[in-house]
Amino acid sequence: MPVPPEPPLDCPLCPRLVAFREANAAAYPSFFNAPVPSFGDPDAEFLIVGLAPGLKGANQTGRPFTGDYAGDLLYATLEKHGFSRGTYAAHAGDGVTLDGTMITNAVRCVPPQNKPETAEANQCRPYLEARFAALPRLKAILALGKIAHDNTLKTLGYKLNAATFAHGAEADLDGPHGKVRLFDSYHCSRYNTNTGRLTEAMFDDVFEAIRRYLAR
Ligand code: URA
Repeated sequence: MPVPPEPPLDCPLCPRLVAFREANAAAYPSFFNAPVPSFGDPDAEFLIVGLAPGLKGANQTGRPFTGDYAGDLLYATLEKHGFSRGTYAAHAGDGVTLDGTMITNAVRCVPPQNKPETAEANQCRPYLEARFAALPRLKAILALGKIAHDNTLKTLGYKLNAATFAHGAEADLDGPHGKVRLFDSYHCSRYNTNTGRLTEAMFDDVFEAIRRYLAR
């Protein structure tokens, strides 16, 4: 049976993440508490790969990056560069739509302390692979952070030394449907912006490069 691009809501693959999901379901019964599905345009040419849902962000709202600080910056930047329509309001019912763009995560379930293990990313990788394969127009991938970068390379069948992660780096790769360009950015986490590792201007520059590459 081919793997679908989205895991089932009761995905059993990672024991630690299943245990965390069950504990969260007991502690926060109103939260989504399941693998968070990718969000956006099913015919996207641009795919953003994040790390994993935040406990009180995507794991609460059921939409990637929605409800936490990283999402405030990501959705504002998408709107500024014309990749989204509507006004982001930090919940899945805010009516925001993405234009030619989709957001997914390397690991679909919330991990303890926001830190997925390598084995968990490996278990989740067939879903990332199926996600890439389900986007026939895919031309640009934005990896938010090194873990997303490494998982994108592995998903496309590359060794990790095929492209070094660096903020603003670009690499031309073969995707499931032809050429794709991988763009890197530091993750738009509160930690990275608070410490000055990532500024809004640095994030803007990456989206501007993607917009130019896609000739939009
Ligand atoms: N929310 C997500 O969905 N992914 C991240 O990487 C961070 C926050």
